Amino acid sequence: MNVRVPIHGLTRPDDHVIVLFGATGDLARRKLLPGLYHLFCAELLPERFRIIGSSPKAFAIDDEAFRDHAKDAVTQFGRTKPEGAQWDEFAQSLSFAIAEPGDAKGLVAAVELADEAIGGSPRRLHHLAVPPGAFPAMIETLGASGLNENARVICEKPFGHDLNSAKALNAIIAQHFEEAQIFRIDHFLGKESVDNILALRFANGLFEPIWNRDHVSYVQIDVPESISIEGRAAFYEPCGAFRDMVVTHLFQLMGIVAMEPPTSLNSRPLRDEMVKVFESMAPIDPEAVVRGQYDGYRAEQGVDPHSGTETFVALRAEVDNWRWKGVPFFLRTGKCLEQSRQVVTIGLCEPTLRIFPLEAEVHAQQGNRLVIDFADPGMITTEFLAKQPGPQMRLRDAEMTFSYDDSYSTGHDLEAYEHLILEAMHGNQALFTRSDGIERLWEVAAPLLEQPPPVEPYWRGSWGPESINRLVAPSRWYLPR
Ligand code: BG6
Repeated sequence: MNVRVPIHGLTRPDDHVIVLFGATGDLARRKLLPGLYHLFCAELLPERFRIIGSSPKAFAIDDEAFRDHAKDAVTQFGRTKPEGAQWDEFAQSLSFAIAEPGDAKGLVAAVELADEAIGGSPRRLHHLAVPPGAFPAMIETLGASGLNENARVICEKPFGHDLNSAKALNAIIAQHFEEAQIFRIDHFLGKESVDNILALRFANGLFEPIWNRDHVSYVQIDVPESISIEGRAAFYEPCGAFRDMVVTHLFQLMGIVAMEPPTSLNSRPLRDEMVKVFESMAPIDPEAVVRGQYDGYRAEQGVDPHSGTETFVALRAEVDNWRWKGVPFFLRTGKCLEQSRQVVTIGLCEPTLRIFPLEAEVHAQQGNRLVIDFADPGMITTEFLAKQPGPQMRLRDAEMTFSYDDSYSTGHDLEAYEHLILEAMHGNQALFTRSDGIERLWEVAAPLLEQPPPVEPYWRGSWGPESINRLVAPSRWYLPR
């Protein structure tokens, strides 16, 4: 049975030719192809569109094989199953063309064919789902072949591997695309419950007044993952957890959590406020960082047996501005950990005078927390202390929870990539990162990249190296049940 969930009331983007670079890669298979099909089923793709998968010759396949590949990907990872007339119609729009760095003849011909089939002058959306090292050459090739005309380009993270490479990459892109055409994607910014942090903060008189150093004693942004590198050694070895997750997703989240109220949710004011947070961040002190490597990582296929790449990182970051001075932001992420979670915890200060007779432990560790669980579908919990029924004045922890699943029908939600691809087709950059912000984050990261502490081993299924507890003391790493 086909599940077609049209989302009414939204304008469909202009007609498009979408080119998926890295079409046979991991990201296209897990997210992009299933996401495009979901957008199609939700009637959020343009009225007329074509999707061209592209890869270098070494990974080339023909149109039919690409359609089969897409069908497998949607079957395995999609929410909408590829069946019946609906799938046939979508599959009709798929084709494949080779593009090598420096040679896009085949792709240009395929795009021209797609233009003709659609009619008029459809926009082009190039999604560069390719390894970071392949970016510059692909951008140059798009420019040289004229495929940058009437086009927008989505660039995957990490954007560069340090400040100089990010600057060089920004300079190359700027030669061939205007800033308004460039969409540097960080899919965490497209997550429904990450966007909801903006609503929570800026639509509610209950929360905004306490969102500062007078009331918040620490912030934790915690994204442990139970998965390993899952065969991605070629990507992961030169990258590591800090570049893969922290300088990208976790810092962007910090921007959302720490930003001042923007004058509106439009692209410029929203991104200005994010960048101001990054400008206020203190450079990362390598002494406030723990790098870890899971047991057995060096034996993974494609990994150097002496690898110093970290698969885990925990650190303290600081935002030196009027709102946050002195409030530590603790960030943690890693592979092969006990659980996969995505949680922001806002730890609130204890009231000035302790008048209740209760154990110090309860006071120090329970209640007084706002916990934002942004793993799909997402929930927000306020944890506080309440009087336990009985003759004595004893306090115990209590909670109030908002859960997306229980509160709303989530049939109309979009997965992060779906949301962001749709925004890119509409030309809205609000949820995409900006060159000045990215360069600033590499500046903040520089002391750590220059003097990384040695990697400490940790067991698979643990919470990382022991030393992470010293990093947050007297607080502790907190994850809700
Ligand atoms: C990607 C990283 O950007 O994000 C992966 O490269 C990580 O290593 C993934 O597993 C996590 O994303 P999600 O969608 O599971 O929240």
